[in-house]
Amino acid sequence: MGAIIALSPAITPAQKAVYNSWGPGKYDPRFNIDGKNTPLVLPPAYGLARVRNETYTAEGPVSYWNAYVAVTQMHGQGNFSDPRLGIDIRQTPDLVGPKLPALRAYQHSLEAPAPPAGSFDSDAAHRGRAVFKGSCAPCHVGGSGTDNNSGVLHAAAETGMDGAYALRTTNKAYRTTPLRGLWQHPPYFHDGSAASLEAVVAHYNTVRHLNLSAAQQRDLVQYLKSL
Ligand code: HEC
Repeated sequence: MGAIIALSPAITPAQKAVYNSWGPGKYDPRFNIDGKNTPLVLPPAYGLARVRNETYTAEGPVSYWNAYVAVTQMHGQGNFSDPRLGIDIRQTPDLVGPKLPALRAYQHSLEAPAPPAGSFDSDAAHRGRAVFKGSCAPCHVGGSGTDNNSGVLHAAAETGMDGAYALRTTNKAYRTTPLRGLWQHPPYFHDGSAASLEAVVAHYNTVRHLNLSAAQQRDLVQYLKSL
């Protein structure tokens, strides 16, 4: 995305350098608003039907985010207002708002892809599920879910994350990411700081002092691959 925007003749060389620095699969949806630069991994577009708030920092439901992107990022002609951000854009006619319900219905129809046959060890995944229940399920509610559906957010330190992006947002905290089709979309965490599911598990084992054995960590990885 950044490399495409960097082709624009309308931006300065300094902006161009930032856009070119993001690399594939990353985007900073606030850079053109606040000038800061902490790019995010593009989140998966599927499995949104059971998610109350979209984005890593739970800005709002998916149509809120669609309008934000359409108007403030793509410069589509339409309305986007959020007093929390000090943004109030109104354009007539609004060509964005009327398209949002159909777009949301389509997005909600996209289910997370099932793991390919033979891509994980099901006995180990079964054991890993018990590890998950003890160490992860309080936040990742119901296995693949998120406690954000009941409004909870987490300070960056709770999961050992870099807090810089959250500090640029209204909520200043991260939403528990719903776990869907994980096998399909490394790297993990908002900033891509874990390259693999093994790295995710090792990260939590350290920052949350879980004391999981090597075998438990392997089983947990197999469970995550099964989601
Ligand atoms: C205190 C709440 C909490 C606990 C406990 C927790 N998580 Fe998370 N999890 C989060 C939050 C918040 C994020 C989003 C972090 C970010 O990207 O900044 C997240 C993100 C993730 C992601 C990244 C998903 C993606 O698509 O990028 C994975 C994978 C994950 N957690 C797995 C686990 C596992 C496995 C455990 C147990 C060892 C666990 N989590 C325990 C809150 C929690």
